[in-house]
Amino acid sequence: MSVAFSDAARSELERIRSRYPDREAAILPALHLAQREFGYVSDEAIVYLADLLGFAPARIEGVATFYTMYNRKPVGKYHVQICRNISCSLLGAEHLIEHVSKKLGVRPGETTPDGKFTLTAVECLGSCGTAPVMQVNDDYHESLTEEKIDALLDRLP
Ligand code: FES
Repeated sequence: MSVAFSDAARSELERIRSRYPDREAAILPALHLAQREFGYVSDEAIVYLADLLGFAPARIEGVATFYTMYNRKPVGKYHVQICRNISCSLLGAEHLIEHVSKKLGVRPGETTPDGKFTLTAVECLGSCGTAPVMQVNDDYHESLTEEKIDALLDRLP
């Protein structure tokens, strides 16, 4: 197995490795870079990072699977993540997840056949004061209603 990080990504990984004397601390930024490079953290990327940082692949995989922000399989052009934790749940998150699920025709964890959307139900996004909250790629959308979600998703190219 091999993975084709770009030259720029390889340079960045070297910078990350040299920046953190404690190799454990380099795992999160290295995984973040892998996801930015490929859109998800593949098995091949995990093996590469394990070799680079001097860990067993299982150590890297354990971190990648612990944090929901790392995608372990490819996601759509738009990754729609809706918080289902307590604050959002009390304000209707489960209904919003169901609404988006029906609108897109996929269940949480699935990607639309055209590859445009992946829907994921996630734990707290750290913006409980503006619940219910949804993250689409890198952007937060807060104080959601079904109407707000529809308007947002309908205008995504
Ligand atoms: S509970 Fe949803 S953002 Fe914290």
